Amino acid sequence: MEINHLLLGEKAIEAKGNALPLYSNFHVGAALLTDDDKIIQGCNIESSSYGLTICAERNAIFKAISDGYRKFKAIAIASDFEGYCSPCGACRQIIFEHCGDVDVVLINRKKELKILKASELLPHAFTDDALPKEDGK
Ligand code: THU
Repeated sequence: MEINHLLLGEKAIEAKGNALPLYSNFHVGAALLTDDDKIIQGCNIESSSYGLTICAERNAIFKAISDGYRKFKAIAIASDFEGYCSPCGACRQIIFEHCGDVDVVLINRKKELKILKASELLPHAFTDDALPKEDGK
């Protein structure tokens, strides 16, 4: 099925409603589209131990993987920022590594879309190609 980028963006906006940004007050939502057209939502959740915060994108991806999904087509990201909320470096790594070179759909307050490829956000990515294989090479 064709990717409905606007619908995915609207699902990210919906997911933002569950965000728990206790310290930053910056609400973020994500919506991840599986290869069989399911949408898994995630939001950012913060901790008083600040570094334990999880971003909306990684939350959606880890939720999906832990529910057994392994192949993805796109991920959308929404915040209340008037511009586009672009994923942080950690999320770029997880998007590229676990979702592949998917469409990354950024949606702003006016519901305008910016669509990028994961590889555009993370050129020259570190991947498991670099890790030693069983034969030690
Ligand atoms: N955040 C996300 O959830 N996704 C992003 O792409 C950028 C940042 C969250 C982390 C933290 O809870 C808050 O936004 C402020 O950095």
